[in-house]
Amino acid sequence: MLLSPADRDMLAGVRGAGAAKAMNILAALGRIHNAPDMADVKSVQVSGISYKNIGPHGLGFLEEWAGQGSKTVVPSFMNPGGNDRRLWKELGFSADFVEKQSRVIAALEKLGVEPTLTCTPYHTVTKPAFGDHLAWAESSAVAYANSVLGARTNREGGPSALAAALTGRTPRHGLHTDAGRMPTRSVRVNCKVLSTADAGALGAIVGKALAEDGSAGVPYLLGVEPPEGLRRDAWLKALGAAMAAFGSTALFHIDGVTPEAKQSGPELLKAAKREMVIDSLEDGLKSLHRGGGKIDVVAVGCPHASLDDISYIHGLLKNRKAKIPVWIFTSEAVRVQVDAQRLSALRELGVKIVADTCIVVAPLKDIGIKNVAIDSAKSACYLPSHQQVGLYYASTEELVETAVRGEWKAGK
Ligand code: F3S
Repeated sequence: MLLSPADRDMLAGVRGAGAAKAMNILAALGRIHNAPDMADVKSVQVSGISYKNIGPHGLGFLEEWAGQGSKTVVPSFMNPGGNDRRLWKELGFSADFVEKQSRVIAALEKLGVEPTLTCTPYHTVTKPAFGDHLAWAESSAVAYANSVLGARTNREGGPSALAAALTGRTPRHGLHTDAGRMPTRSVRVNCKVLSTADAGALGAIVGKALAEDGSAGVPYLLGVEPPEGLRRDAWLKALGAAMAAFGSTALFHIDGVTPEAKQSGPELLKAAKREMVIDSLEDGLKSLHRGGGKIDVVAVGCPHASLDDISYIHGLLKNRKAKIPVWIFTSEAVRVQVDAQRLSALRELGVKIVADTCIVVAPLKDIGIKNVAIDSAKSACYLPSHQQVGLYYASTEELVETAVRGEWKAGK
């Protein structure tokens, strides 16, 4: 692999031990993937930062790296951690967990990574442009950046994303190349995909099928489009998050909708070697719903909610008080934009805006949550294995009705 003089200097330790370690990681990854050289990245999103997931070993690894004195050289952001930094006491997180999580954040801040703690940085801190090279790590953020924005990023691991942050570089392979962005299969959708829960079910079906195309499966969807208006982004986020969770899909094209399909749809379609047809979402929807005991919390905001998502949910409540607590997960940057009047109205109605964390990476058992109702297929994919909780899956609209009613209505 061709390294630039600056890359070689970093490798030799000219910019310190931390940057040398970073360039070593990237050079090794580049060799594994036969990358011809490195690309400059515009921004980095670092995942794998919840103390619940990384534990003491991950914390030790980050603190050691932070102690080596290197700093990020491009804008770099954190994925959600394990607790809300402001509401942790109110939500029942333990002081011990919060102390450990704070150390993870402090180590990353020392390296120069901003504590944005969100998987939707494109709603607030950065909106990548078409063609920008990035090194993002969280799978739904990667899917959105590649597919909806037309930026270019592989799905990085925590250490490789951090290495890109400290060097501003990433090996040029996979989704950084035109060849890597070609579809592997066309997907003809013959049924309606209306709600975000439908989009999640479609993503789950396609994601599972794409697992057969290998780790670089890219679908080209035909016959489907997101709703216009307030729910467009939520629908696209739900679809990408589900495909990424069920099939490691990091890029999708939608005919006439996503930027690369708009630009060169017929050419992309020619590259698809496989075909599939989806006539119904029924199986996908059923597979996401498991049921369980009494619902402890209705959780929305996976991926993290935007201001539009929050307004939409507020509207659905129509001033009715929720009998089951509703938590909307988002970033602190979005939460501070919710005006005080709306925030207190939502609180009155039983809705909390929870920032910095999410339903998958928070230690749910420790805070007494056993059963959740969700509208996210990505959450449905990970919650059974990560959190062993009971799972109810429905559209955002149905979830709000469930919260207001105080119980699940069988037959959904
Ligand atoms: Fe984001 Fe957590 Fe879902 S990181 S995509 S809210 S699992």
